[in-house]
Amino acid sequence: MTKPTIAGNRTGRKLGQRVKNKKMKSSSRQWLQRHINDPYVQRAQLEGYRARAAFKLLEIDEKHQILKGARRIIDLGAAPGSWSQIAAKVTGSTDDDVRVAAIDFLEMTQLPGVTILQLDFLDPEAPARLIEAVGGTPDVVLSDMASPTTGHHRTDHLRTMHLCEVAAHFAIEVLGEGGHFLAKTFQGGTEKELLTMLKQHFKQVVHVKPASSRAESVEMFLLAKGFKGRKTQIAETEA
Ligand SMILES: C[S@@+](CC[C@H](N)C(=O)[O-])C[C@H]1O[C@@H](n2cnc3c(N)ncnc32)[C@H](O)[C@@H]1O
Repeated sequence: MTKPTIAGNRTGRKLGQRVKNKKMKSSSRQWLQRHINDPYVQRAQLEGYRARAAFKLLEIDEKHQILKGARRIIDLGAAPGSWSQIAAKVTGSTDDDVRVAAIDFLEMTQLPGVTILQLDFLDPEAPARLIEAVGGTPDVVLSDMASPTTGHHRTDHLRTMHLCEVAAHFAIEVLGEGGHFLAKTFQGGTEKELLTMLKQHFKQVVHVKPASSRAESVEMFLLAKGFKGRKTQIAETEA
């Protein structure tokens, strides 16, 4: 069977639909109209993913091969759970042998093979609980965390960048050698110090914008590939 193309519409729902509810605020009507006409939303429904975000991870992986051979994965900011669905599949995680740990402060419906922590990642207990939940050294740390929007652009931006930074430090603390770190960031938003730090610890650091990330959004992903390992870092620092 051929895979449905992104542009194709196999849900039976027509694209180009208009929302006519006049009682709705115009911004809400525009959001709903964009959502129901979004081919990625339709494809996510068709393929059983909990969110269109699934295609961002799949596209990045298709190009950069970060999930191949992964045995354990930590998913930060995981709700509703499409990245965790993919992580459970690639690691072959089951409830008897859990290999994926997910965290979100929002409630997330259970997923086979995924231990879900309903907790703020910035809680001091979160790192230890994630490591305990994933049951060993992770090969991949994913973060799609975005701070809840306040409506004040600069504040939202700074908060999400802070999450990205804390996630990067966490990845460096926990990843196994050769592991990968992928995190949501913003165009032009990654601080120079964070990039420098990641370049010291990983073989390759790049920014990626998958096609499924809306063009009008400033969202980008920061990908750090090939963790050099903690021993190498200590040696480099000492040298
Ligand atoms: C874009 S959504 C993630 C979508 C997810 N990757 C998927 O595929 O379904 C971002 C998530 O980050 C979560 N988040 C933001 N800040 C967080 C924090 N400090 N701790 C835990 N989760 C957080 C939000 O609650 C939200 O559910």
